[in-house]
Amino acid sequence: MANDQEKEAAARASLQFVRDGQVVGLGTGSTAAYFIRLLGEEVKKGLRIRGIPTSTRSQELAQSLGIPLTTLDECQEIAVTVDGADEVDPQLRLIKGGGGALLREKIVASATRQFVIVADASKQVARLGKFPLPVEVIRFAQALVAKRIAALGAYVQLRTSPDGQPYVTDENNHILDCHFGEIRDPDRLAHELSDTPGVVEHGLFIDMASVALFARGTEIIQLTR
Ligand code: 5RP
Repeated sequence: MANDQEKEAAARASLQFVRDGQVVGLGTGSTAAYFIRLLGEEVKKGLRIRGIPTSTRSQELAQSLGIPLTTLDECQEIAVTVDGADEVDPQLRLIKGGGGALLREKIVASATRQFVIVADASKQVARLGKFPLPVEVIRFAQALVAKRIAALGAYVQLRTSPDGQPYVTDENNHILDCHFGEIRDPDRLAHELSDTPGVVEHGLFIDMASVALFARGTEIIQLTR
């Protein structure tokens, strides 16, 4: 599929940001998985890095490829993180969390010097909000939080797994997918969500990404902040 080729091309382009000896954040999702596989090939060729995965899935993939791993307990400074996104606007504000890993992803991104986004061209948008905004919530508070987010103008859905049960994150929380439509003021919405008790984290990543690499066919478009 052309989309998969673009994801792989963007992931390949991000390897230029990884240097020998670095601690590297490993994102989550299908595009980040391409990056992890390509990084695994570089490790086999002799690249010495240590990875910090943003999900159990990415941890298992990295381990299966022989990528040495470390943790935030051992190391609190990450040189570069490569991750995917669901939407990226011209200011490199992101919606993330489609893959359910937004909490660990945001924590790892916050400890990262150079946060690199890799994506196929469909993720590049003029304004955020077509993709439903994932919000990770404490189960105890999910109905209350859902009501409060609905009052902000969203249609709110509890994310479910294929078996119909609520989706459970790596940190044992639930996710509300919040359909806002076009988000006119992402910065303000980010603050409103962060100020809502019961919200663990939301999928608006603002002032975090420094580079976005979009693949459109064989062309790589690089945006820098
Ligand atoms: C996971 C994420 C992913 O990076 C995002 O959903 C993009 O995934 P994909 O590369 O599969 O389109 O935020 O929580």
